[in-house]
Amino acid sequence: MKREIIHFNSIDSTNDYAKSIALEKEEGTIVVAEQQLSGKGRMGRVWTSPSGKGIYFSIILKPELDPTKVARVTLIGAAAVHLALKDINICSQIKWPNDIVINGKKVCGILTEMNCELNKINYIIMGIGINVNLDEDDIPEELMDKATSLKIVSGEDINRNKLLDLVLNHFKRLYEPFKTNYILNETIKICRENSALIGKDIQVIQNDKFKIGKAIDINEDGELVVEFDTGIETIFSGEVSVRGLNGYV
Ligand code: BTN
Repeated sequence: MKREIIHFNSIDSTNDYAKSIALEKEEGTIVVAEQQLSGKGRMGRVWTSPSGKGIYFSIILKPELDPTKVARVTLIGAAAVHLALKDINICSQIKWPNDIVINGKKVCGILTEMNCELNKINYIIMGIGINVNLDEDDIPEELMDKATSLKIVSGEDINRNKLLDLVLNHFKRLYEPFKTNYILNETIKICRENSALIGKDIQVIQNDKFKIGKAIDINEDGELVVEFDTGIETIFSGEVSVRGLNGYV
């Protein structure tokens, strides 16, 4: 996988820009920005992206994959961020399937978007936002109990270039066997062993309906295994939102 990096001081959204160039660019092209003016989160939310304080980037991917399996790529991204944080001695958990949390608060989110036909992916844009050196007053008040930054938890300024490089290296190492042979074992192991959900009671929000169950595993296909009163079900990421019973995790 090549690594062309396109850098912006300021852009609306790295995901939107990556989408606009995805067809003509090679797999592995990365769009990174110092600031986003309309950073996008999942479910139409805003991703606060103050200048020079976070890591905001999107990777263009073109795996030969059934479109229903795209969530697996998000798990590779989550595992890569977790490993990169571990490299700089920051211990984090993966809140399946899109978030990285520390002490129950979110420090990183992943927004994976795709352009596909019935059984063929044209491209995937995996956008990752990491709250690196945000101070308390950079975090919107309504998110104070749910979000934090690496600087707030570690008490130190973190080198964003070094961290981005670590994330990209881990991502490449985990993605390549997946792309060529659909091998996902290491990613699943990392997501399982560092899960913020396994063993916890969670609410699963599916088609506007809430169900309470206990997260018991992440299976070999990267699906969350949940035990409900009615029996055990596996959950695809695209279709649900998962919350802890007492708040965010
Ligand atoms: C979420 O947790 O809701 C997902 C957040 C994803 C944010 C990143 S920042 C880089 C990329 N560009 C965007 O507009 N969003 C993603």
